[in-house]
Amino acid sequence: MNMAPWIIQIALVAMSILTETTEGKKDTVLYCSACRAIVDELNYSISQIDPKKTIHVGGFRLNPDGSLTDKKVPLARSEANLSELLDGVCGSMSDYALHVDPDTKIKQYKRFAPRSSDAGDFPDFNNFKFDGPEGSNALKFVCESIVEEFEDYIISLFAKETDHVVDKLCNEVSDHCKGTKFQSDEL
Ligand SMILES: *[C@@H]1O[C@H](CO)[C@@H](O)[C@H](O)[C@H]1NC(C)=O
Ligand SMILES: *[C@@H]1O[C@H](CO)[C@@H](O)[C@H](O)[C@H]1NC(C)=O
Repeated sequence: MNMAPWIIQIALVAMSILTETTEGKKDTVLYCSACRAIVDELNYSISQIDPKKTIHVGGFRLNPDGSLTDKKVPLARSEANLSELLDGVCGSMSDYALHVDPDTKIKQYKRFAPRSSDAGDFPDFNNFKFDGPEGSNALKFVCESIVEEFEDYIISLFAKETDHVVDKLCNEVSDHCKGTKFQSDEL
């Protein structure tokens, strides 16, 4: 058998996370960061799609004058497009690393790679801990597990709104961020 090293590494990361979970000590920093990162990445991806693009979702809408028009939704918030975005969202976790706030000491995985649209706005690299691929592999693994568990719910949330998604997904429906203090500047 000839397993690629990365498979072994992912397996090791997975095992250590599962062990933590079964012992009841879920890594809150990891889970809450992944949950917030999913929302932030999806919100950003949606904002990059032209809001004027719409698609037909089948069916008709009855107008006040009695005529019928095709039912349309914005492309970015169509179920097909949201599930495509969701399929790719965990790949973005490689742009994240553990960040420790110098004042509050709050730990959180944050995006260190600037997006093309905020070029020039470089983060405070000194406060990131770059621990090789392990950190972002762990974040990616947790991301996949959240996406798998809440896929339908995430799609239904983003189909309607962008505000309060973090609260609903990360505090109410899952408890990944419950009782966690986070800087609110980002989301
Ligand atoms: C989602 O939207 C993007 C941007 O317009 C488009 O390129 C892509 O084909 C769409 N995907 C689906 C499944 O509708
Ligand atoms: C979603 O993205 C838009 C555009 O990038 C931004 O203005 C808004 O603050 C974001 N909302 C959340 C909840 O992150």
